[in-house]
Amino acid sequence: MKGLFFGILSLWLIISKAALAGDIEAGKARYAQNCGNCHGPGGMGLASYPKIKGKEVPYLVDRLKTYRAGTKVGPNSDLMIMMAQPLSDVEIANLAAYLNAQK
Ligand code: HEC
Repeated sequence: MKGLFFGILSLWLIISKAALAGDIEAGKARYAQNCGNCHGPGGMGLASYPKIKGKEVPYLVDRLKTYRAGTKVGPNSDLMIMMAQPLSDVEIANLAAYLNAQK
């Protein structure tokens, strides 16, 4: 009985961790769709567009959810609000994992 309980508990932990961690490859594919047009290859930054690579995952997730909610952060937030609107929670987690992994 005890073994079954811990079996289910560890399975649940593995599943929830996978859901939270973000898929770097999926994030890379999503980034390639249009993020790179402004933020440059791998999020390195381009002209007036901020560098976003190598930042902490919680920071990136928070920024993207803030923009998605329509909240302004900097002077050019309107562009990002438009870009973040269609993102799902999973896409945000994947993008954050990908950008964090770019050093
Ligand atoms: C049309 C150009 C453009 C596109 C496309 C774009 N961004 Fe941005 N991004 C910006 C600008 C401009 C800012 C700064 C906005 C501000 O002033 O608040 C920004 C800010 C950010 C920030 C916050 C940076 C920081 O340190 O505060 C993140 C994270 C980000 N973008 C990720 C993305 C992702 C992921 C995508 C693709 C879904 C994307 N951007 C697509 C222009 C763009």
